[in-house]
Amino acid sequence: MDEAEETLNEALRLVEPSRGEEETVRQIAEMILRRVEEAAAGAESVSSVELGGSFAKGTWLKGDVDIDVFVKFRPGLSKKRLEEVGVDIGRKALAGYDWFLRYSEHPYVEGVIDGVKINVVACYEVAEGLWQSAADRSPYHTRLILSRFDDRLRREVRLLKGFMKGVGLYGAEIRVEGFSGYVCEVLVLKYGGFQAVLRRASGFRDGEVVGFGETDAMASERFRSPLIILDPVDPMRNLGAAISPEKVAAFTLAARRFLGDPDVSFFRWNPPSDLSTRVAESQLLDHILAAVFRHEPRMVDILWGQLKRSERRLAAQLSKAGFNVLRSISVSDEKERSAFIFLLEGQRLPKLQARTGPRVEMAEEVETFLGRNRKRTKIIWVGHDQRTYALGERRYQLASDLLGALLGGEVRGSGVAPGLKKEISADFEVLSGRGVLEATSGRKWLTQGLWQVVSTDGFGFGSD
Ligand code: UTP
Ligand code: MN
Repeated sequence: MDEAEETLNEALRLVEPSRGEEETVRQIAEMILRRVEEAAAGAESVSSVELGGSFAKGTWLKGDVDIDVFVKFRPGLSKKRLEEVGVDIGRKALAGYDWFLRYSEHPYVEGVIDGVKINVVACYEVAEGLWQSAADRSPYHTRLILSRFDDRLRREVRLLKGFMKGVGLYGAEIRVEGFSGYVCEVLVLKYGGFQAVLRRASGFRDGEVVGFGETDAMASERFRSPLIILDPVDPMRNLGAAISPEKVAAFTLAARRFLGDPDVSFFRWNPPSDLSTRVAESQLLDHILAAVFRHEPRMVDILWGQLKRSERRLAAQLSKAGFNVLRSISVSDEKERSAFIFLLEGQRLPKLQARTGPRVEMAEEVETFLGRNRKRTKIIWVGHDQRTYALGERRYQLASDLLGALLGGEVRGSGVAPGLKKEISADFEVLSGRGVLEATSGRKWLTQGLWQVVSTDGFGFGSD
């Protein structure tokens, strides 16, 4: 047995559920199916209820199952009613358990029974291709995988999912923007096994197309994403669109590292136990700028969309002002408190700032430049390179001042998502350098976020 095989045998023990776990999950699945059926009995336009997702496909990951229940409606029903009736059924079926609303293309209900996550999702019962909602394809996915996968392929998929999870790339939800369970299945279907997928991934090119038919050639024109994965059930849909460019690149790196030196640690995600100490000792802490703020609770998928959008815009604003943002992330307790974290080249910029104007022969532009700068600047001159220059003073020398002004609403066009803007401006705190540690007490999510920003990615380059 070679090293890779040995590693994979070991990894299988981490990703394949035990008989006991399978039995427990099966019982919960039967119970929730019954409860959804009862809740759906007599409801408007319901045609059937069925189990889907990785439970139905036998591809769920040990210790990480969610049971997806699909409520299928006849296509005559309006989208609005489908959402209302679907959520209502989910709510009834999960009454007495913890549940909350989630959102992908349309709302659905997520609950937890004995520690097992349950999703109750509404979709239309339609013929292939006549999709009316994004979830309509799901029962076809289940059928496809069930018909094409045997025990070996199910093992291979579990390895791939476990690997993705271990290196932090698993999940299509907006928080992660990574590889969904179904994407893992499609990759294994295409390349035939875990190692084959990794071999291909280690050579992925920008705009790589993973497809199954004659439409593949058109895919590069139709879709723009670093990795294009055509849904075998619907070649007009690019599953790769939900994967962020950095997650695609991270997969390529992780795949190369694993193939070069297979190790079971790729299948384990364990953050260092002494996280707070490590963060506190980081040399990079001086370069951290963070904003912690309070907001009303909302559906997590919506919250993450707003956070990421705001974070990217704020990073762009900081960079535009001269504070080079090297890295940034959003973190949240997913209830009422979240934060943006930026890693900066430096916290402070010089007081003076020279603006470069046009070359002297561009008469009109030079006039405009002079007109605009004459009043506000100390001096104007022409340089050795025959360009005009104006020397002014920066409004914000400290990154923290600028971030405060952006979030407080003093500067217009901060880029903060409209759904968060008011709440942030009413209750936020800007912290920089070691000062950020003050905000971490009792907030593990914040400490984890800081660790993520000040540490080497835990794969690909070898972690520290
Ligand atoms: P899940 O994300 O729960 O996928 O979505 P899964 O296959 O059950 O994998 P696990 O739970 O991570 O093990 C449920 C279904 O939603 C559809 C697929 O049909 C999937 O089976 N889906 C999900 C998509 O069509 N696209 C996606 O990106 C994700
Ligand atoms: Mn699932």
